[in-house]
Amino acid sequence: MPLTADRVQSALDRPVRFYEQVASTNDLALAWLRDGASAGAVVLADEQTLGRGRLGRAWLAPPGTALMLSVIVRPPSEAVGSMTMLGAVAICELLESLGAADVGIKWPNDVRLNGRKVCGILPEAAWDGQRLLGVVLGIGLNVRIDFANTPLADSAISLEPALDTRIDRLDLLVTLLSRIDLWTQTLQARHELFAAWKRRLTMLGQRVSVSSVDDSMQQGVAEDVDNTGALLLRTDDGRLHRLVAGDIALGKQDQPDGD
Ligand code: BTN
Repeated sequence: MPLTADRVQSALDRPVRFYEQVASTNDLALAWLRDGASAGAVVLADEQTLGRGRLGRAWLAPPGTALMLSVIVRPPSEAVGSMTMLGAVAICELLESLGAADVGIKWPNDVRLNGRKVCGILPEAAWDGQRLLGVVLGIGLNVRIDFANTPLADSAISLEPALDTRIDRLDLLVTLLSRIDLWTQTLQARHELFAAWKRRLTMLGQRVSVSSVDDSMQQGVAEDVDNTGALLLRTDDGRLHRLVAGDIALGKQDQPDGD
């Protein structure tokens, strides 16, 4: 079923702005947040023309093929760094509720289904000087994007072909928002969220390559994560490195397996 403003409005009990086409839902949600949008408000689009991904990448999907939204969250400022975890855990729970068996998180926040990326998460915070106004939690979930004959054919996957069933994006949205709401209420004490995130990380204990924002590459064993979500990488010289961002791939690679 196509997403329409009427369907979306009547399914959600919260402020929502639906667009058939936007540049980026995160941009609109950030503007709405600065304009006083309440916590839980949602910007949803059927198509993005300038969707943004992590590390300055683009995030594009043809109309009708993905669930793309930005949720406005007003977390305590010390919980800003946990928003990626929150998004990833909520998506995992959504997929698990649909019966998906092989669901995991590739550090820091790519949700994978059957070993391939099915969802990306981009939280962006808005500040007024030192004061946190809120966070926009941007989520892009591949529902029926056809990745065949694209550079992402081996690394990305869509929900419908993976589960071999037709899925209404509105049903996904309703369940996803309920999981986000629940986890948002736990943000004062984040140990439960952290445990739910860490339990689903796929590469701990394994040999990995991590490329950083500056394109430098480090290899070693993904030994653990600390309670802020940073990756603890043990390199071959025995040193432990704390990495807060980057792209991780299994084994020794020239390029990490991006999205
Ligand atoms: C990633 O690179 O993995 C994160 C991708 C996040 C994409 C979503 S789609 C909805 C929201 N609006 C954006 O412009 N980006 C996020």
